[in-house]
Amino acid sequence: MNNLLSIQQLKEEEIVALLADGHRLKAERGHHSQLPLIGQSWGLIFSKSSTRTRVSFEVGIRELGGSPMFLSTHDIQLGRGEPIKDTARVLGRMIHGVTIRTFAQSDVEDFAQYSGIPTINALTDEEHPCQILADLMTIEEIFGVNSWKSMKIAFLGDVDNNMAHSWMWAAKRLGFTLALGGPKAYQPSAEYRSKIDCDHIIYTTDPEEAVREATVINTDTWISMGQEAEHGTKEPHFLPYQVNNQLLKAAASDAIVLHCLPAYRGMEITEEVLEQFAPVIFQEAENRLHAQKSVLCAIAR
Ligand code: CP
Ligand code: NVA
Repeated sequence: MNNLLSIQQLKEEEIVALLADGHRLKAERGHHSQLPLIGQSWGLIFSKSSTRTRVSFEVGIRELGGSPMFLSTHDIQLGRGEPIKDTARVLGRMIHGVTIRTFAQSDVEDFAQYSGIPTINALTDEEHPCQILADLMTIEEIFGVNSWKSMKIAFLGDVDNNMAHSWMWAAKRLGFTLALGGPKAYQPSAEYRSKIDCDHIIYTTDPEEAVREATVINTDTWISMGQEAEHGTKEPHFLPYQVNNQLLKAAASDAIVLHCLPAYRGMEITEEVLEQFAPVIFQEAENRLHAQKSVLCAIAR
């Protein structure tokens, strides 16, 4: 594996291996026998805000022996219009790897191509692969998954956003049933559905159908970064898809709730549900560190 640009690019066995290594790194935290990033400098190019992703990469790179360098696009010439391919060719000659949070998926792809150094997608409008690896790790910890194929996972809300897309590819690769519950106007396009071509993804506008007997209920903000202009007009469409105690009655009795965070209480999730599932949601947040260290180990040269 040279880069992590999407869940789409991963084979089932690669996901399984990354998760297994994430568990190992979590267990061995503080006493790693190998430091694959020793002597390396890694850039973190961020065009959007971040708490979890930024901190987990900075800490993870240090814990694997490397030095992280945070590069906000407000400060580097990329933010003033220098092309990504030029930025990539410069950084590719100076540093050893990069993680990028940006808007267009083509930017992370171009960076990987022009820089020639390991490149990680730290969130684009299209996918959020690092988050999904942490989520899958958390599900394995809680349920001790023997067979992904027997599992039903639901995702409620904006089912055409980066998180939903990465969940779709994870379902395709691992074989679990994924139910996407969201308003008609915000379903994945016919083109995207046919690209994914997966017969165990359920697309529904009925929130109860989505969560029925699901053991994992996922949600995310209704307004992703970059969509701020839609505040006020978008939310009313999503109110029926709020994760609340009434909706959870239709889920499996041992169901857990996941949220990639940041959460907007009273919108996609109630305060009550978020606090009830806080132990698992913050376990999920912690797993960003371990899952990303696994990715760093897999792609560092
Ligand atoms: N879930 C997630 O990516 O959080 P941040 O935006 O804080 O990095
Ligand atoms: N869909 C959200 C995820 C935040 C981690 C966004 O893109 O803002």
